[in-house]
Amino acid sequence: MKLKAVTGLIAAGIALAGTAIAEVAPGDITWVDDVMIPTSLTGMPGSVDAGVSVVSSRSAGNCVACHGISALPDAAFQGNVGPSLDGVGSRWTEAELRGILVDAKHMFPDTRMPSFYRVDGFTRPGDAYTGRAADPATFGPLLSAVQIEDTIAYLMTLTD
Ligand code: HEC
Repeated sequence: MKLKAVTGLIAAGIALAGTAIAEVAPGDITWVDDVMIPTSLTGMPGSVDAGVSVVSSRSAGNCVACHGISALPDAAFQGNVGPSLDGVGSRWTEAELRGILVDAKHMFPDTRMPSFYRVDGFTRPGDAYTGRAADPATFGPLLSAVQIEDTIAYLMTLTD
């Protein structure tokens, strides 16, 4: 391999490692008053456009399965298990929205809303067979730190 290519690979490796270090892991989250998470999980603001796809796609957050959002008339099916998300950016602070997304049970103890950035406190697949927790690397949280931040960026645009 040419030296230039090797240098490029090393640079890419350092960039990836940098991203991983900046992210707050699900187990390392600092809650304020048990319902708020003031700091970005990635150390950066999310992308509004990417947040739209997390919220509306079945393979990602699929929030529209339970929540209506008037600003997304193209999202095929919108459920009503949870309240409409219209105006959530006015009802909640960014720190509260981050808390609701990471683990909604802090804000709403009996909610049916999934905990999107939590990996402890559940029976992991494989537990029953091996007695060991599944590898978090292969069975991570429902959404990544980046997806959580993208979703928050989008929700903050839903103001009254
Ligand atoms: C299985 C259904 C379900 C899914 C999926 C779901 N939620 Fe929820 N969500 C709820 C329910 C139910 C509530 C109401 C809280 C309660 O239970 O008291 C809620 C509450 C909320 C609230 C507070 C709403 C308000 O108006 O006060 C926000 C914000 C929210 N959800 C965002 C999301 C986002 C973003 C996603 C996708 C990443 C999502 N939810 C996925 C069921 C769901």
